[in-house]
Amino acid sequence: MHILITGGTGFIGQALQKYLVNAGHDVRILSRKSGWDVVNQIMDPHVLDGIEAIVHLAGAGIADQRWTNARKKELIASRVDSTRLLARVLRTEKHQVHTFVSASAIGFYGADSGQQTCTESTESGSDFLAECTQAWEDAVDEIKGLRVVKLRIGLVMDQDGGIFPVLARPIRFFVGFVLGSGIQGQSWIHREDLVRMFAQALTDERAHGVYNAVAPEPLTHAAMTHEIARAYHRPVWWPHVPAFALRLILGEMACLVTGGNFVSSAKIQNELGFTFTYKRFSEAIKQLVHV
Ligand SMILES: NC(=O)c1ccc[n+]([C@@H]2O[C@H](COP(=O)([O-])OP(=O)(O)OC[C@H]3O[C@@H](n4cnc5c(N)ncnc54)[C@H](OP(=O)(O)O)[C@@H]3O)[C@@H](O)[C@H]2O)c1
Repeated sequence: MHILITGGTGFIGQALQKYLVNAGHDVRILSRKSGWDVVNQIMDPHVLDGIEAIVHLAGAGIADQRWTNARKKELIASRVDSTRLLARVLRTEKHQVHTFVSASAIGFYGADSGQQTCTESTESGSDFLAECTQAWEDAVDEIKGLRVVKLRIGLVMDQDGGIFPVLARPIRFFVGFVLGSGIQGQSWIHREDLVRMFAQALTDERAHGVYNAVAPEPLTHAAMTHEIARAYHRPVWWPHVPAFALRLILGEMACLVTGGNFVSSAKIQNELGFTFTYKRFSEAIKQLVHV
């Protein structure tokens, strides 16, 4: 298949490109460096030449900078405006694209959905993350006439990027703390499983609509911190870092660490028969620490 990946230069995109090329697909990357200018809504008309499927990953990094009002606008615009540009080009230009797989995020349920289990039919939350993700999914819904899949991605774990090195570093240096209450849910997924999920969404005709992209066994933040510490033979110091202190340091985006979600993977397992290599965090951590 001829596949175009937007934001393919990033953490998920690089691994996905490698996987798809190894599986025999032809992969092209759409980057701000070449091919499109999201801010000015311009796209090279030849970008879609021969393309049959699009994976849409582009978006400004949620945890890269403090959430000022300007940054919040950028986080939303980079996702919504990039999706709208693709939707417009797909509507107005001749093309052979039949499948559109978009990243979304479990932030759809809000930064903190408490102890409830979120399924794909759980309503969206009411904070900034939920607003951003809802706007992004609404923009994806403007794409008509193709098979459209949205993957609500959890915390993506891999040794060389994403959240795992950020969590592991202080623990390895003997300054491991539990952040906030510790009972917040961490719905994670190993990058290898996520990449296989994207690949299945691209090729499995049954896949359409929204699926949670998380491992079957979420755990609390405290349990995850202790698993990482155990794997590195390190202690975790008490007491917990209180939420108000994290808010002083991080501002509103502290909710990314003080909040959490328990998200269900049942739909993709039951409907598409997706099987995980890493179901439990205790299995993933062995690979993350020993690679
Ligand atoms: N990693 C996670 O744990 C996680 C969890 C949930 C959801 N997601 C979502 O999955 C997608 C991919 O995640 P990732 O971890 O691979 O992200 P990433 O490493 O930050 O890569 C995203 C890519 O998007 C492009 N991009 C950045 N800022 C942009 C902007 N202002 N306008 C348009 N494009 C922009 C960049 O490509 P160019 O510089 O080449 O244009 C970048 O390589 C993101 O949308 C993210 O929100 C990720």
